[in-house]
Amino acid sequence: MSPVLEIRDLELAVPVDGVRRRVLRSVSLEIAAGEALGLVGESGSGKSMTARAVTGLLPRGAQASGDVLFEGQRLDEMSRRALAEHRSSGVALIPQDPRTSINPVHTVGDFLTEPLRVLQSLTATDAADRAVAALADVGIPDGRRRLEQYPHELSGGLLQRVMICAALLSEARLIVADEPTTALDVTTQSEVMAILSELRTHRRLAVLFITHDLELAAAVCDRIAVLYAGEIVEVQPAASLADSPRHPYTRGLLSARPSIDTQIYPLPAIPGRAMSPHDAGEGCAFAARCSYTQATCDAGHPALERYAGALVRCVRAEELGPLTSRGAGD
Ligand SMILES: Nc1ncnc2c1ncn2[C@@H]1O[C@H](COP(=O)(O)OP(=O)(O)OP(=O)(O)O)[C@@H](O)[C@H]1O
Ligand SMILES: [Mg+2]
Repeated sequence: MSPVLEIRDLELAVPVDGVRRRVLRSVSLEIAAGEALGLVGESGSGKSMTARAVTGLLPRGAQASGDVLFEGQRLDEMSRRALAEHRSSGVALIPQDPRTSINPVHTVGDFLTEPLRVLQSLTATDAADRAVAALADVGIPDGRRRLEQYPHELSGGLLQRVMICAALLSEARLIVADEPTTALDVTTQSEVMAILSELRTHRRLAVLFITHDLELAAAVCDRIAVLYAGEIVEVQPAASLADSPRHPYTRGLLSARPSIDTQIYPLPAIPGRAMSPHDAGEGCAFAARCSYTQATCDAGHPALERYAGALVRCVRAEELGPLTSRGAGD
């Protein structure tokens, strides 16, 4: 069976002040039904651009090569109608801040039932019934009352559940959640994540979970892909990545997180600033910030290679072996 989402060698450049800048370099990944893949990286690494490529909503003037396939079909070969259908019912985007993607002058009921009435030709009553049932599925019991409310009357956590509810009503098979809990407090964050995880399991949804929080991704995803300067530098099952990262950048991300068990102060931050894919040369893009750099790191562009259960883009990966997340010298 083909994966729900497959991205092959995606290269992307977008115009900034009239000049095309490279934002993604040969990104490849796949997600099966019922699987959650975490896409993790610092700000500007290209996470949201990957999400936009998956939803087929690239910025104007973007130049892309490579393939994005949804259920085996290439997005760039879809007719306008098929692409519109893909966006409305194949894939659902859960944004960082739901308030920016919900119309404030329409009720929650309008937001949830309009696609059912327009796309699925349901009557207003049937659409409302479906919406109330779906709200219950995401832990909102008093659905009738909520349908009458306006977005500003709902807390951020409730509104994020409404967004998940909309994804369920559209019967999307792929959910792209782009930092869905960053704007929420910690308790609400874990409630929203629990709902997403449960729905994924029960409905066998494929989930692309985008976050800068590697530990959160490891807690809720099956596999993690780490993005640096627009390219994937490591892919591992979530269970092994947190204990034995293989790319020095992944290790740096893990070490920079505060932990209750190991109280290290000050926390070892990754030195220097994140490299833009546009400025990355032919050598390893992380070399300038890496504590393991040798002359060989600049010799050519490292390929993403398999080591045991991991894919790693580091010429020293084999020699270094699995790295601990905190170690001597930190
Ligand atoms: N609409 C746009 N037009 C041109 N360039 C853009 C646009 N949006 C983002 N970029 C650039 O593309 C690169 C990747 O940005 P992207 O938004 O994918 O990063 P990100 O990993 O999602 O970061 P963050 O964690 O801050 O959300 C950045 O260099 C950014 O400046
Ligand atoms: Mg982003």
